[in-house]
Amino acid sequence: MDPIESDIQATFRKLFHNEPLLVRSPGRINLIGEHTDYNDGFVMPAAIDKEVVFGIAPSETSTSVIYSVKYNERFVVDIKNPVKTDKPKWVNYLLGVLYQFVQQGHQVKPFNCVFGGDIPIGAGLSSSAAVECGFAFALNELNQLNVPKVKLITMAQWAEHNYAGVKCGIMDQFASVMGKEGHVIVLDCRSLTHRYSPIDLQDYVIILCDTKVKHSLVDSEYNTRRNECEQGVSILKKHYPFVKSLRDATTDMLEKHRDEFPAKVYNRCLYIIQEIQRVQEASADLEAGDLSAFGKKMYETHYGLSKLYEVSCKELDFLVDESKKFDAVLGSRMMGGGFGGCTINIVRDNAVEEFTNHLKSAYKKAFSIDMVTYKVKVRAGTSVVLPSGVTVR
Ligand code: GLA
Repeated sequence: MDPIESDIQATFRKLFHNEPLLVRSPGRINLIGEHTDYNDGFVMPAAIDKEVVFGIAPSETSTSVIYSVKYNERFVVDIKNPVKTDKPKWVNYLLGVLYQFVQQGHQVKPFNCVFGGDIPIGAGLSSSAAVECGFAFALNELNQLNVPKVKLITMAQWAEHNYAGVKCGIMDQFASVMGKEGHVIVLDCRSLTHRYSPIDLQDYVIILCDTKVKHSLVDSEYNTRRNECEQGVSILKKHYPFVKSLRDATTDMLEKHRDEFPAKVYNRCLYIIQEIQRVQEASADLEAGDLSAFGKKMYETHYGLSKLYEVSCKELDFLVDESKKFDAVLGSRMMGGGFGGCTINIVRDNAVEEFTNHLKSAYKKAFSIDMVTYKVKVRAGTSVVLPSGVTVR
């Protein structure tokens, strides 16, 4: 068991005086394919070695309690009617999941639950998806409901839409639950068919650079981007009735009807259509071991996200620009929803120290903020933690 798992187990024993079932659920990275998930496109995420851990057991009374280690706060849950609450906000991710179980007619017994982990919040590593997915998985196990994983994923996404208010795509929840050690997931977000591609980075590693900023626009702008894409679809649909999402569109179609598009909507659509295509090419690069071609595409993605899709920010742009000074960096781009969080970088292992030292000091000079870096490993998706520390899926 890792230290977080033992901590959650110990806290649970102390608070509730019995043995919990332990479930871990990881955060995610995304190599390429940003904002394509809700446009029915492709993404290439992977689950990482940062996780949230749940300890859960049946309650001996009719009361259900959830305790957050991070906030050192407990919340008594009405399991028959888990409505959204104004305070505390953290509990809504769990209440939304529970609501889905109740609404779908599953029998959930009263429970006690403790959770906590090491996924930094606001860093774009999907801590909220990990919480939703881990809790859904834990409820499913505890009550032996046999809800299939794909269903748990959509239940978790529902919680994000309706209890957290972000109309996210499926990528984060899918990656958290379905991740596989040493592999990226190449996911078709339309059909949810996916394959695992071994991540062989030769003498390169994945470094995340955390800007430590999260601009407040993030949720509202996310939903706005979704609407702008839908607006683009409705313009194209008039000419091409088969276009159900930007997945079905081409740049030729867009160019032909450019005059009908508000400039912003045109730019949003152009980025998405190019990015969907780029993921497919990038996945071929990765499989062929052509890391330098893959890295170039990461830079192209960043350019599109910054200039056409406009979800970057000066801090992210700065880090990506600085990375270009290093031959040892194959690719760098903002990752996730945007407006802060991390950049993802493919860096030669023997140059990591030089690279991170340089970025830290340049970033501090420019923004007076201490940047943090994470060297991430690719791990398995949500799973039960056996007492011996062996995990099963
Ligand atoms: C957030 C959302 C995802 C996805 C990314 C951008 O992480 O939760 O569904 O849209 O942004 O790729």
